[in-house]
Amino acid sequence: MTDSAGFCVWFTGLSGAGKTATAAALARRLERLGRIVTTLDGDEVRTLLSSDLGFSRADRDVNIARIAFVAREIVRHGGSVIVAAISPYEAARRRARESIGARAFVEVFVDTPLEMCEQRDVKGLYARARAGDVPGFTRVSDSYERPTSPDLVVRGIGSSPDQSADEMLATLAARGLLGPASPAVR
Ligand code: ADX
Repeated sequence: MTDSAGFCVWFTGLSGAGKTATAAALARRLERLGRIVTTLDGDEVRTLLSSDLGFSRADRDVNIARIAFVAREIVRHGGSVIVAAISPYEAARRRARESIGARAFVEVFVDTPLEMCEQRDVKGLYARARAGDVPGFTRVSDSYERPTSPDLVVRGIGSSPDQSADEMLATLAARGLLGPASPAVR
């Protein structure tokens, strides 16, 4: 075991739950600790790496498998990676955990009630989904399987991302995943 164990913090939660903001707060904290952080955000991944995929169950599974593959490679080399994707299905999340390795995998459930996500509707997608314009939209016309045993549950809205980042750092530290700074910055 090296003193720069890689890890993956995997955020799951509804669209508009606050995954991206929470992930960004954690990335800032980790960077201040001298870590180089890669963030794989669902919206971003889907513009290139998964641009050929839609939102059927099969396509979401492929999307999550691709993200898990990239995350695994980063972790394998001692890097830090943050994933922020709805990742609505328990089985796909379990496969990601198995592929990356349970010791290095920290699942964070951004538990924001649907009503709050829908009220904010930052991208206007909930309104479109309710109108029937976006088929298979998570929690409107497709399922979201709540994590049964996440490593951490945070509130995406109603508590500050920095506060949530503190909790995540504590979880990482307790798991022995925050050793000294990564070799690249020493
Ligand atoms: S995942 O289900 O495969 O994990 P991912 O996180 O990559 O989803 O992408 C989710 C983003 O795609 C949402 O935040 C939203 O902006 C957009 N989106 C477009 N169509 C859908 C849909 N049918 N269900 C959920 N999100 C959608």
